[in-house]
Amino acid sequence: IKIAVLISGGGSNLQALIEASQSWEDLAEITLVVSSQEDAYGLQRARKYNIPTVVLSKKRYASAEEREQRLLDLLEEHSIDLMVLAGYLAMVPRRIVERYENRMMNIHPSLLPSFSGKGYYGIKVHEEALDRGVKVTGATVHFVNEITDGGPIILQKTIEVNFEDDALTLQKRVLEIEHEILPKAVKLFAEGKIEVINNKVKINGEVK
Ligand code: GRF
Repeated sequence: IKIAVLISGGGSNLQALIEASQSWEDLAEITLVVSSQEDAYGLQRARKYNIPTVVLSKKRYASAEEREQRLLDLLEEHSIDLMVLAGYLAMVPRRIVERYENRMMNIHPSLLPSFSGKGYYGIKVHEEALDRGVKVTGATVHFVNEITDGGPIILQKTIEVNFEDDALTLQKRVLEIEHEILPKAVKLFAEGKIEVINNKVKINGEVK
């Protein structure tokens, strides 16, 4: 399968996917990286592996319609089977969310549905978790639907929260989990082991 990864920033999740994909052989490959930001460091990461990159920024494409059409054309041209949002901070147009139903994944740095929805991204998620005094947090990979962070949950993994944690130490430990479960979810998808039944994900075979 052909995968497009959408980013906006550092791209550590993209890096984890690229590294995992080295052992995927012809099962799956990342054939396109799209960034919503001109200067996203993730673009450099993609270029190091000769993965085609495109910047769809407000700076380059004034109108949302232009950006949407360009993204649609790119997905078509690259015959993309799976879209992965990896720290992508722009909204995905509804038309694309619908076209890629259960073929677009997102990684969120909390155990959904906690600390989710508009405004919950990046460091803010961890600040809220610490404010609430949660004893465990973690990361979630889910399919994207029209509700922010609302799609079927694919994989989750927890970490213990220490009293001494601050948002940065927590973010660092959650990112490590993200880098583990996102490539795992993509591989399961590529192996055809993911089924969605009544908006819930059934994983066939072992989740090794
Ligand atoms: C991180 O906060 C991560 O939790 C979320 O998006 C942010 C960007 O991570 N998924 P990176 O660009 O993949 O390093």
